[in-house]
Order: sequence, then structure tokens, then C-alpha cells
Amino acid sequence: MTDRLKDKIALVIGASRGIGKAVAVRFKEEGAKVVIVDFEEEAGRAAAAEIGADFVLADISKMDDAVAAVDFVLARHGRLDAIVQNAGIYPWQLIEDTTPDDWDRVMAINLRGCFNAARAALVPMKKQGSGRILFTSSITGPHVTSPGHGHYAASKAGINGFIRSAALEFSSYGITVNGVEPGNILTEAIQLHRSAAFIENMEVAIPLGRLGSPRDVANAFLFLASDDASYVTGTTIVVDGGQLLPEGADFRLLPP
Ligand SMILES: NC(=O)c1ccc[n+]([C@@H]2O[C@H](COP(=O)([O-])OP(=O)(O)OC[C@H]3O[C@@H](n4cnc5c(N)ncnc54)[C@H](O)[C@@H]3O)[C@@H](O)[C@H]2O)c1
Repeated sequence: MTDRLKDKIALVIGASRGIGKAVAVRFKEEGAKVVIVDFEEEAGRAAAAEIGADFVLADISKMDDAVAAVDFVLARHGRLDAIVQNAGIYPWQLIEDTTPDDWDRVMAINLRGCFNAARAALVPMKKQGSGRILFTSSITGPHVTSPGHGHYAASKAGINGFIRSAALEFSSYGITVNGVEPGNILTEAIQLHRSAAFIENMEVAIPLGRLGSPRDVANAFLFLASDDASYVTGTTIVVDGGQLLPEGADFRLLPP
């Protein structure tokens, strides 16, 4: 705890559990005043009470909700230093079973949610002449994928393109835009979403030998939100335990 975000005002979206909650906790530990947003009211209020944050009920796929969340922060604290748009869904669905409505729902939360958050945060940040806009991307989409994630992979690859465009457009306003690309992170949702066998196989496939923790991802967000990252914009940090590295499945075998 080194006060790396002392007195900074942060809004973390999708933070009632998992990675977003870990980001909110980590930011609080480093001195930030945190407002969390979620569309699940009971879990969101419980997380906020536990963390010592304020809670706003909002669905980030809706622009009005994004604006209302930012307005809450401005009314409460007068400024907004960092916004983390982490809300995302990853329904497992083969492309041949995906309907246009299924596709639109994933895009509305994962990708339009990032646009909504950026547009809403831009208003105060441009006036301030400073701000950090941060997104949770993924290694799935920008680098790799697996069956059942066509819409999800497209949404996360889209986030990386948006990061570059927004970083360029906002650079003259003193605003930086970056993202984190988690690998396989052991959140409650992943434990529900994946079998024990999948998780064990994944541990073998990850060079560091374990799935990541939400806090591993939160530490990367902390860097990007801190003064240490003041010259970093338009990029992403991969937090995957080396998962992207192997050329093949036999990477643990040494030559005879
Ligand atoms: N867990 C992983 O292995 C992993 C890997 C790569 C990327 N990610 C990304 O990290 C993010 C968080 O993942 P997680 O595993 O912690 O998921 P999670 O489901 O545990 O948490 C997501 C949170 O976002 C909230 N949320 C969802 N849609 C929302 C909306 N429209 N408006 C407001 N809140 C909403 C949920 O209620 C929940 O609290 C997602 O964007 C996910 O795609 C996760």
C-alpha cells in the first residue's frame, strides 16, 4: 500500500464480483475514492458495502445509464480521474447456434458498453484536461480463441481497435486510453462456466502453472491508472501467465 492513487476518483463498472471487484478493492487500497457500477443491485450493494465504495445501479449497455453513473461521480466528488469499463459477458455458444439477438446482446455489453463509458467519461475528463479510460479486453479475440466464443472474441478484438482510436483522438485532451487482456482468471463466473477438468487442463497449458487471480489483473489496472503510466496510451497489457507463448502443446518437453 503506497498511496499510488491517493485521492484519485475512480469509477469501476461491472464490479459486484470477479475482476471488477478486485480492481475496486485494489484502487481503494491505494487511496482512491471508488464508485462501483453494476446491473445486479443486491450483489453490487453488498460489494460496495464490503469495499467501502459508493454504488450506482446501471446497465452499461445503455448510454443514459453510463451518463447517469458519471454524473453521480461528479455530484459526489466533483471530478473523475479514472474509469474502468470491465463489465462483460461470455456465454458459451457455437456460431451455428448464435442468433442475431444473442450476437447483439454480447456486443451491446462488451463493446458498446466501452463506447458508452468512454463517451460519458470524456465530458468531465476533457474539461479537466486529464483522465484515464481503461477497458477489460481479453487474450480471446485479439490473439487466440476457442469454440463457442465467436461473438465474445469479436467483441474483445473490437475493444482493442477502439482503444487505439480513442487514445489517438483523446491524446490532445490529456486523456490516456488503455486496456488489460486477461488470460484465464479464476473468478466465480469462470468456476460456474467451466468444468473442473477444463480448469485442470488449463493449468497444464499455462506456463506459470496456474490460472490467474482477479488481483493479478487488478494490479495491471492499478499501473495503468497510476502516475507511473502517464506516458502509456493506446495499448494493452497481457496478464496471462505466459499462456500465449507456447508454439505447441509439448512446451514442457525437453529434447532427449
Ligand atoms: N475471468 C476470465 O478468465 C476473463 C478472461 C478474460 C477477460 N475477462 C473479462 O473480464 C471481465 C470480468 O470478467 P469476470 O470473470 O470477473 O466476470 P463476472 O461475471 O464475474 O463479472 C462481471 C460483472 O459485470 C457485471 N455486468 C455484466 N453486464 C453488465 C452490464 N450490462 N452493466 C453493468 N454491469 C454488468 C456483472 O453483474 C458482474 O458483476 C469481463 O469483461 C470478461 O470478459 C475475464
